[in-house]
Amino acid sequence: MVTDILQQISYGVYVVSARDKDKPTGCIANSVMQITSSPAIIAVSMHHDNHTHAVIRQSGKFAVSVLAEDSDPAIIGTFGFRSGRDTDKFAQVNSRTVEDVAVVEDACGYFVCEVVGQTETPTHTIFLGAVQKSELFGNRTPMTYAYYHAVIKGKSPKNAPTYVPAATESAKGPQAKRKFQCSVCGYVYEGEELPEDFVCPVCGVPSTRFSEI
Ligand SMILES: Cc1cc2nc3c(=O)[nH]c(=O)nc-3n(C[C@H](O)[C@H](O)[C@H](O)COP(=O)(O)O)c2cc1C
Repeated sequence: MVTDILQQISYGVYVVSARDKDKPTGCIANSVMQITSSPAIIAVSMHHDNHTHAVIRQSGKFAVSVLAEDSDPAIIGTFGFRSGRDTDKFAQVNSRTVEDVAVVEDACGYFVCEVVGQTETPTHTIFLGAVQKSELFGNRTPMTYAYYHAVIKGKSPKNAPTYVPAATESAKGPQAKRKFQCSVCGYVYEGEELPEDFVCPVCGVPSTRFSEI
C-alpha cells in the first residue's frame, strides 16, 4: 500500500469533548467530518484507548470545538498529548458549558452532538452525532491539519488515525540542520543549537525534554 496518497487527504484540527460524570474532558481529533446536512450528522473517529472514547460512549454526547489558526498551540499540547485519566485538561483553558458539555473559548466555534450511531474498526470507533446546538464565535480562520504540520510543525501521536511513524516522516527531508525533538509531543526544532530557555511551542515543556534526532 502506498501511504503517501493518504497523506493528501485534508482535515481540520478539533477538540472533541464530553462530560465525564462531574468533570469535563476531551482530546484533539483531526478525523471529524460532516456526513449529512439535514439532519446535520457529524462523524468522529476515536481510538479505543483514549479516555474520551470511554466518556463519549458512557455519556452519549460530545462537542466539537473548531480550532483556529491562531488558537493557542498549547491547547493541542494539553488535549492531544496528555490523557484526561490523569490531567484536568479543561482547568488549563477558558471554556464554557453548553448542553452539559464543555467547549473551548479559544476557537472558531463549536457544535454539540448526541450520539446516534457507532461503527467499530479494530482500533477506533466512529461515532456519529446529530448536531443539537452550534455557535460561531467570530470570523477566525479554521486550522487545517496541513497548517498544523507545516506552520506549527506539530506531530500526531499514535492514537491519531493519520499517525505516521517518525522514521517515515524524517526520511522525507534533507538533514542540513541539527534537529531536536520534543519527547512529549514530537515537535521538531531545527537549528545549530537548542536554546536553553527554549519552550516547546506545542506542548509547553522546557528544552530539557528535547533530544537530538
Ligand atoms: C493533531 C492530532 C490529531 C489527532 N487526531 C485524533 C483522532 O482523530 N482520533 C483519535 O482517536 N485521536 C486523535 N489524536 C490523539 C488524541 O488526541 C490523544 O491520544 C489524546 O492524548 C487522548 O486523550 P484522552 O486519553 O484524554 O482522550 C490526535 C492528536 C493530535 C495531536
